[in-house]
Amino acid sequence: GAPVEVDLTPIAEGQIVKVFWRGKLIFVRHRTPAEIKAAEDVNVASLRDPQPDAARVKPGHAQWLIVYGNCTHLGCVPLGQQGEYKGWFCPCHGSVFDTSGRVRGGPAPINLPIPPYTFASDTKIVIG
Ligand code: FES
Repeated sequence: GAPVEVDLTPIAEGQIVKVFWRGKLIFVRHRTPAEIKAAEDVNVASLRDPQPDAARVKPGHAQWLIVYGNCTHLGCVPLGQQGEYKGWFCPCHGSVFDTSGRVRGGPAPINLPIPPYTFASDTKIVIG
């Protein structure tokens, strides 16, 4: 599949936009300062799939989280800003993800993966 350009300008802080790349659902999330802080203030060693938030965003662009949009358990689409950590909640079997898309509860084995993408400018990403 061809790379997909996403204009970030219209995505408000606190908003999650769905895009498709190679037939896969991807969430583009404009995180609030509180959501970023929550993602950073975690004891990484305590996580099921230990990854620091800094490894899941691009340097200087911590407000943008780009993750695949299917639960890593059995592929349902989790609901944004839901669940204990207000990241995502999967209604199928109750997996909980934080504002970094990391699994924090339920049966999902790993974090929501990060697709390949780059910043073409401060307001545009290219996925793929
Ligand atoms: Fe999400 Fe099972 S598919 S918890």
